[in-house]
Amino acid sequence: MTLTIDVEPLSEIVGAAVRGVDLSKPVDDRTADSLREIFLRYSILCFPGQIISADDQLRFANLFGKGDGALRGAKEPGGKRTGNRGVMFVSNVKENGKPIGVLADGEMQFHSDGAHRDSPYRATTLYAIKIPSRGGNTLFANLYAAYDALPQATKDRIDGLKTQFVYDYDAQLRNFTDDEDTTLPRAVHDLVRTHPETGRKSLYLSRLMCRRVVDMDPVEGEKLLLELFDHAEKPEFVYAHKWAPDDLVIWDNRCLNHARTDFPAEEPRMLRRFTVSEPDAPDDK
Ligand code: OGA
Ligand code: MN
Repeated sequence: MTLTIDVEPLSEIVGAAVRGVDLSKPVDDRTADSLREIFLRYSILCFPGQIISADDQLRFANLFGKGDGALRGAKEPGGKRTGNRGVMFVSNVKENGKPIGVLADGEMQFHSDGAHRDSPYRATTLYAIKIPSRGGNTLFANLYAAYDALPQATKDRIDGLKTQFVYDYDAQLRNFTDDEDTTLPRAVHDLVRTHPETGRKSLYLSRLMCRRVVDMDPVEGEKLLLELFDHAEKPEFVYAHKWAPDDLVIWDNRCLNHARTDFPAEEPRMLRRFTVSEPDAPDDK
């Protein structure tokens, strides 16, 4: 049998569109292997025109690790989100005046999903259900390319550094996150990480959640972080995904950052989201 999968780069910097595979049905082992291989090569795969249920999306997520299939409710008005790993809707849509999903404004700052956990999400899948007429793009920054482009002196300087991630779901800017609030989820990670599957080095940092460089003078650490955020968000490392309904996208959180762009608030935007965890990750942390 010959494989009919068609792979076309989405940009010069990252991502590929994949056609010729119907994800409403289980895929055979050879196809699954090919998908995993091109995922590692391109870091973002977009499958346009997929008509898939939530179960189909979870089965797809499971090809890449542990698909997080638990039910995770929308945030109650004024309440906190549960920390559980599970399906959710990224949405501004309201039914009977109540939001049916989560649309955190923090998602407009570059970040990597789950970086506030000891075991971050390996990947995220989003399936486009409703897309506004303009805006609401997702920007993806290639953190391998950002690392590679650093001057050698900077690479030497940041080698071995660790940063503290703290996530306040309600903060829209990292400066508003209360570092002293020990109830907020937090984790420490290497600033330069080696991808466990590709062996490539990348930056690992986030304007949304990265609070400080561990064991560094706060002023010096803040200056370094701001320089690195600006560097990692340079247009040459970024691909802007303009969604079409029925796009299924998976991206690799280990080597990419992402951020949503603004869109007209009166227009509905809804995407279904399943994350992919490391096989040994706990369900709720
Ligand atoms: C997410 C996220 C951005 C978007 O689902 O984790 O950041 O464009 N989404 O909806
Ligand atoms: Mn996100």
